Amino acid sequence: MDIRPQPRNTESFSKDHDFDAGTDDFDAVHALFGDLRSRCPVAHSNDLGGFWLFTRYEDVESAISDPTRYTTAVQNVVPRVATTGRRPPLHLDPPDHTPYRRALTPLFRRERMAFWETAIRKMAEGLFQPLAAQGSFDVCRDFGYPLPAMVLAEFFGISAETADTIRRIGNDFTLALETMDLDLIQQTSLVLYKAAAELIADRKDTPRDPGSDPVSAMLEMRVNGEPLPDDGILGTVRQLLVVGIIAPTTFIGSMALHFERHPEHLALLRAEPDKIPAAVDELLRLYTPYRGFARTPVDDVTVCGRTIRRDEPVALAFTAANRDPEVFRDPDTFRLDRKDEPPHLAFGRGPHMCAGRGIALVMITAALEQFVQNVTAFKITGPVPMTTWPEYGPLSVPVTISGT
Ligand code: HEM
Repeated sequence: MDIRPQPRNTESFSKDHDFDAGTDDFDAVHALFGDLRSRCPVAHSNDLGGFWLFTRYEDVESAISDPTRYTTAVQNVVPRVATTGRRPPLHLDPPDHTPYRRALTPLFRRERMAFWETAIRKMAEGLFQPLAAQGSFDVCRDFGYPLPAMVLAEFFGISAETADTIRRIGNDFTLALETMDLDLIQQTSLVLYKAAAELIADRKDTPRDPGSDPVSAMLEMRVNGEPLPDDGILGTVRQLLVVGIIAPTTFIGSMALHFERHPEHLALLRAEPDKIPAAVDELLRLYTPYRGFARTPVDDVTVCGRTIRRDEPVALAFTAANRDPEVFRDPDTFRLDRKDEPPHLAFGRGPHMCAGRGIALVMITAALEQFVQNVTAFKITGPVPMTTWPEYGPLSVPVTISGT
């Protein structure tokens, strides 16, 4: 039984369709989610195949934290794409999920992160310096896009050209998902599976250090003395090729849009660079780059007075939860004094919490450092097209900058 206060005015929404999912403006997404959170925190849309939306922190956190009640194995994102296979670790519940996650953990251990900090700072500096000298560029296309591709090349130990091709196809795959172009989804996914299969074949022939090479780590993993199944390894490598390469691009663009509005925050961080980690956290809370991932209830469930059937997908709106006024003071405001507030959900929570968040944080921090060191103000010089479900953030931010 749900004993929390029931939402006010829920009856003002149609039972069948409470909101249009197509909202993709930088601010309108937050306005829509804020409205739903206050009036209809468990909302339904008929768009994208039909789905429920949780917008309150408490409901989102509770669902992602409990795989016995909400499974990830049916549908991990809206819209659902049923044609391209199941990819661990994201598409499996514990305990099936556990060995895949265990195989990946050593890749992100503390000593390895020290390597990434140095390597990624150098990449960010190498990319940003010529742009800063130029004074006019596209933050996403020229900086936010190539940075994760360089990290991907280093992560998998592949050439920059191969990483670039994978990045391009991964990008096409994600855009095909957003426009529900099923042929292109199928086509691009197959190319990514082929790239994953080639990598696996190569590492079977020439194993590398499983402490730093993800494919060798998967091949070395043993469960009760047995290797992981071939299709599980293939699915994981395929997953790793694209997971975490779109979010840094859109998020770096979102940071530039924030500083265009608030150059005083750049000045603050330049004066007090020790505040950069807190600023990264606060920006992730404000501009959470994954709008939300999905789960499916294992049994019928009633949340905030609305009953969701066991086979109906629920999108967990991290982007909305992270601005929940019941959890965060001045939720729409950039503040660096939130130590006593709960952590944001930009990297998820529970068993599927982002495995690569250490690398993601290093990447974002290195990008922000470049902004702080080189830019006093951004001026937007053209349209800012946005991603849509399941991402949030711009795909292109054309700017001119004032240098330091
Ligand atoms: C700003 C960047 C990133 C953000 C915001 C982000 C966010 C997330 C979120 C929210 C999840 C949980 C999904 C769910 O619960 O359904 C997730 C899972 C995951 N992420 Fe990230 N991610 C980022 C970058 C990365 C990077 C760079 C990597 C790899 C190097 C990575 C690897 C993964 C993996 C492997 C999972 C699946 C974990 C599991 O199922 O156990 N992510 N990420």
